[in-house]
Amino acid sequence: MTTRELRLGTILHGASGNMSAWRHPAAQADASISFDYAKRIARKAEEGKLDFLFVADGLYINEKSIPHFLNRFEPLTLLSALAGVTEHLGLVGTVSTSYSEPFITARQFASLDHLSGGRAGWNVVTSPLEGSAKNFSRKQHPEHALRYRIADEYLTVVKGLWDSWEEDAFVRDKASGKFFDASKLHAIDHHGDFFQVAGPLNIQRTPQGRPIVFQAGASEDGKKLAARHADAIFTHQPTREEAQAFYRDVKRQLAENGRQPEDLHIFQGVSVIVGDSAEDVEQQYQTTAALVSIQDALNYLGRFFDHHDFSQYPLDAPFPELGDIGQNSFRSTTDEIKRKAREHGHTLRQAALEAATPRPLFHGTPEEVADGLQQWFETFATDGFIIQGGTPDTFERFVDRVVPVLQARGLTRRDYPGTTLRASFGLKEPVNQFSPQ
Ligand SMILES: Cc1cc2nc3c(=O)[nH]c(=O)nc-3n(C[C@H](O)[C@H](O)[C@H](O)COP(=O)(O)O)c2cc1C
Repeated sequence: MTTRELRLGTILHGASGNMSAWRHPAAQADASISFDYAKRIARKAEEGKLDFLFVADGLYINEKSIPHFLNRFEPLTLLSALAGVTEHLGLVGTVSTSYSEPFITARQFASLDHLSGGRAGWNVVTSPLEGSAKNFSRKQHPEHALRYRIADEYLTVVKGLWDSWEEDAFVRDKASGKFFDASKLHAIDHHGDFFQVAGPLNIQRTPQGRPIVFQAGASEDGKKLAARHADAIFTHQPTREEAQAFYRDVKRQLAENGRQPEDLHIFQGVSVIVGDSAEDVEQQYQTTAALVSIQDALNYLGRFFDHHDFSQYPLDAPFPELGDIGQNSFRSTTDEIKRKAREHGHTLRQAALEAATPRPLFHGTPEEVADGLQQWFETFATDGFIIQGGTPDTFERFVDRVVPVLQARGLTRRDYPGTTLRASFGLKEPVNQFSPQ
């Protein structure tokens, strides 16, 4: 085994494939609301010794939303149930810092960490969709930069709350009646721009010290937040060169924050198709892509631009000039869509289909898929991958056929090194900020 280990996770994303994959013959059409489905994928991930299962989330839908966003589990509830039917798999769930309270979030993830024996991870997002405000009694959706300022303070508060109790604070001495050691209890007494939180948190220090923090958001502000606070990043760059540039930038910013390169793992979210031959792979791709109508694709594209209505533009004219539309939503993603359309001279139809039915970057025989992943890993484009099946039946095939190739090459583990997600990630135990050194 090389000292640097390739790390893998997988993401629950409806039936897996694309937005219309629920129509695929191999798909479980109600996957996003089926516990049996989630359990099956989680157990399969554990069979392949993957580090974690990732659950994304959103806080606003309308009739143009992706089908599986219309009807899906709340992440922490689902992960708590999965904690009971898995043993080693990290359980990573998305909670927005723009529409929640730090005290509750700290408590929920601490609870998940206890319930799972140290396998909890929090994917910190700032919520891209303006409509979210309407579901949270707010007049206005905070703009992009403000969302990241809120997130930064939010994370400081949550980390402080997770340090409320030192490791051995609860003595529970029946003879003396001493339940806890008051010298090991700490209240943060936080007074900030956005939050006033006294603390302490009403749950003890968690099995892995504190839950693992992911950050998803690739703009300059997103990277800055990750370099300050996160243990992992979920990102997506379309080419190896762009991924390498992203990788170098984040690792440089880590150093600026007094952190080591290995303190944060970068994960590229990638879609894969595994087949017996090039024809087989092409046929699998075409069958799945053909399920997406052009109207579906326009809706898919529109969501990134805060549900902008693309049906108003001619389909076969050049991609429309959008000005600032999208800047306050999925900024890094919309910048990328606009840039790509401009560079390739795409029409709206091409840009929409490209977004909704992208050809998986890693496709081919198990060896070819492994070659691609290995190349990105060894050339420092990434530390690992979040694998999404390019068709509804790909993930099982990935675990059965690609993972053994990666293991045989000494790139991924054959067994879990411990019981916590922190152990899987090879991260050091966090120091309690209140403990005497
Ligand atoms: C790879 C990736 C995954 C994301 N996952 C989610 C998610 O599950 N839920 C969510 O509300 N926002 C998600 N976001 C949105 C971000 O949290 C953020 O609100 C938005 O992308 C703007 O930030 P950015 O410009 O820094 O990317 C994701 C963003 C990226 C790039």
